[in-house]
Amino acid sequence: MKSFTTVIGKDIRTAKKYLEEGETVGIPTETVYGLAANALNDDAVLKIFSVKNRPHFDPLIAHTHSKEEIKKFVKDVPAKAEALINAFMPGPITLLLKKNAVIPDLVTSGLDTVAIRIPNHPLTLELLKQLDFPLAAPSANPFGYISPTTAQHVFDQLQNKIPYILDGGATTVGVESTIIGFEGDEAIVYRLGGLAVEDIEKVIGKVRINTNEGSNPKSPGMLKSHYAPRKNLTIRQFDDLTIEQTGNKKTGVIAFNKYVEGIDKGNQILLSPSGDLNEAAKNLFAAMRKLDASDVEAIYSIPFPDEGLGRAINDRLKRASA
Ligand code: TXA
Ligand code: MG
Repeated sequence: MKSFTTVIGKDIRTAKKYLEEGETVGIPTETVYGLAANALNDDAVLKIFSVKNRPHFDPLIAHTHSKEEIKKFVKDVPAKAEALINAFMPGPITLLLKKNAVIPDLVTSGLDTVAIRIPNHPLTLELLKQLDFPLAAPSANPFGYISPTTAQHVFDQLQNKIPYILDGGATTVGVESTIIGFEGDEAIVYRLGGLAVEDIEKVIGKVRINTNEGSNPKSPGMLKSHYAPRKNLTIRQFDDLTIEQTGNKKTGVIAFNKYVEGIDKGNQILLSPSGDLNEAAKNLFAAMRKLDASDVEAIYSIPFPDEGLGRAINDRLKRASA
């Protein structure tokens, strides 16, 4: 693999130049940072897999900037998909649509659907408008690790492997997009994410949730163990935690809005002191990284309220603990 002196910057032209040359670039979105390459160039897409250490059976999301562009890459847009596009794009939602021949099989790992989204970030939207190809982009983390929510997170893990990271600040949503596909007239959520199911249901009615944990899941990001810190993470409903319960380990806690008794507050992170699930989602991955990098030996968390973005938070915590 080529080696680079990775630069972090805000220059769209530099990002564009590298992408046009077939290199990979870190890009900001509202959910998490992506590792982008020209989706129509197989050699460029292959670099994504090797930089991330990602298995080729795990398909990528194609990012574009408008509804009209989406139509260039798919065979048709079901009515419910159309309604979701109109209501939520750009935004933290990804649609699985029947692909046409424009999208290479490498992007979709041979599936007949392509995952498409319009990210809601001004720098990346401008970049996409200036490019004449869509960007394939998974989250910009080594496969299986926590997704990055700042340019620095990307740098920490991918430095020397990519030439440029476009810095768009800390992401505002903080968990990956909600992935939704269509079978006949039914809409199916395959990944809980940054757009709440309740909001989706207001637009298209009841959806089925299938965030399958099998070993051969439809969406490999749904592997049972994923988004994981290196340290052991345990989810437990508790008000207090004793040193015996933690196995005499120095313990970190990811909590919602109140500290857990019995543990040093210096090792606890409240995701939202005001009890706001959107704010908690935004802070989740940075908290996991922070405790992973600290000297705590074990990480504990609590189940979050199972509504709104609390569902995506619980999903990520569960996979991080698997
Ligand atoms: O918010 C996001 O979606 C971020 C930002 C960068 O856009 N991207 C992201 O990409 O999370 P990634 O590759 O980390 O996760 C994409 C998930 C994977 O679990 C993949 O298996 C699934 O989408 N996926 C992609 N194409 C698919 C397809 N055609 N059918 C089913 N699942 C698909
Ligand atoms: Mg990912």
